[in-house]
Amino acid sequence: DKGMHKHFMSKEIAEQPAVLGDAVKHYINTERNAVVLPDVDLDFSKISQITMVACGTAYLACNVAKYWFEQIAGIPVDLDVASEFRYREPPLRDNTLAVFVSQSGETADTLAALRYCNDNHAQTIGVVNVPESSIARESNASLQIHAGVEIGVASTKAFTCQLTVLMTMVIKAARQRGKLDADGEAALVSALLGLPSIINVALQAEHEIIDVANALSKFSDTLFLGRGALFPIALEGALKLKEISYIHAEGYASGELKHGPIALVDENMPIVVFAPKDALFDKTVSNMQEVMARRGKVILFTDDAGAQVASDGAWKVIKMPAVHAPLAPILYAIPAQLLAYHTAVAKGTDVDQPRNLAKSVTVE
Ligand code: F6R
Repeated sequence: DKGMHKHFMSKEIAEQPAVLGDAVKHYINTERNAVVLPDVDLDFSKISQITMVACGTAYLACNVAKYWFEQIAGIPVDLDVASEFRYREPPLRDNTLAVFVSQSGETADTLAALRYCNDNHAQTIGVVNVPESSIARESNASLQIHAGVEIGVASTKAFTCQLTVLMTMVIKAARQRGKLDADGEAALVSALLGLPSIINVALQAEHEIIDVANALSKFSDTLFLGRGALFPIALEGALKLKEISYIHAEGYASGELKHGPIALVDENMPIVVFAPKDALFDKTVSNMQEVMARRGKVILFTDDAGAQVASDGAWKVIKMPAVHAPLAPILYAIPAQLLAYHTAVAKGTDVDQPRNLAKSVTVE
């Protein structure tokens, strides 16, 4: 039932404050503001390497988690799309934890990669939305993302719930490895608990995003840029846009722009930038200026502090609420989804059933 929404995708975007709030409560002791992962009997201090494998949007969630595991927990992360991983058959180091992220839990390539890791004696964890799925059953342990049924082919609430659950794993790992003290844990946990209300504020930007989407729908090519853990959000924004609006979109790390893609930039190239005012903000702003000097049309998603210093010359600026820095990728996924959704609506495409795509890819 779509309720008052025109599409399941719109309903599922709007549901995120509620489902995220629900998801996080499964993994948090709210009295101590501490993470509890009852089903994961694992000592992260004994893990020397994490390998993450998934497809599509779930793979992009792994990309965000790589930044978190490395920066917050100090664990090196290797990651790959499942279709490459399974045939590459990489040697696994001792004490490898292999993490498989899949909404459906049935994606053929991801399942094959899991079986390879099981056969090669890695410890395996599935992060899934369907508890009785093959990936949940065949992993040593599984974590449910509690997103509820996702019907729109383009993944939205599953992505942000995957990120939320992965962040709880990161916190647990960082604690066990002595990289985070109880106060640090409590700060991250309370930021996670505060995320639903911040996302509610972000959702209120919808009307402004509709205006931007109407303008964007007239173009045939776009670039998406981000730095640090916002780079995967640029990739996700580009993936969402291409799959439902059929507009050609590519995501790049901001710093890669001058190594090739900037040659594409002219007045027919909108460039979507995700840049909260974080430690890397100034670098992203200088990339934006390079684009604007070539008449590229910048659509900037930033916070108040960022908008104050970087709005000059941008085509459109949409403000997001401030958020605890490590959680910015979860927050900025929301405008990425809304932009893709409303661009597709403006183009009149079949949003919930985009051409050529299936919800669950159970054949390779
Ligand atoms: C994109 C999308 C797909 C899936 C991918 C993996 O919006 O939904 O890229 O993320 O097919 O599916 P799961 O997570 O079921 O393994």
